[in-house]
Amino acid sequence: MASAGTEKGASPPGRRQLLGFLLGSSVFASLASIFYPILKFVLPPPSGELDSDTVVAARLDELAPSAAKIFRFGNRPGLLIRLPEGGYRAFSATCTHLDCTVQFRQREQDVWCACHNGIYDLRGRNVSGPPPRPLEEYDVHERGEEIVVARREQA
Ligand code: FES
Repeated sequence: MASAGTEKGASPPGRRQLLGFLLGSSVFASLASIFYPILKFVLPPPSGELDSDTVVAARLDELAPSAAKIFRFGNRPGLLIRLPEGGYRAFSATCTHLDCTVQFRQREQDVWCACHNGIYDLRGRNVSGPPPRPLEEYDVHERGEEIVVARREQA
């Protein structure tokens, strides 16, 4: 009778290990669900582009002449234009009036802000409408098969 009671109360080692594993896993999962969002909030984004002054804007074969693309430069948009004669120019794509995103217009060969009809030329100069200043221009380099855009040094 006594031996039957101890057999009933004792767990086999496999069951004990399973319970220990499940308990440990649930504790680990709970701690991970607490600390993961905190770490994501505290640590900077993995791209590192927010602090970087250089970014790959396009592949060398990506743009035809008289074409453009918006690329991400840190937390702001940039505008890369392939000129009709083949060179490249890059600017901040943030309008200097009220921060709308500008776009390249192929037919007009200019940079246009749709918010208030602001127009810049292909050198980034404000030529019409309310923008008070030229667009910030970036340096453009070819590096292997990539078009690399860099912020200009402040004088
Ligand atoms: S925001 Fe671009 S013209 Fe006003």
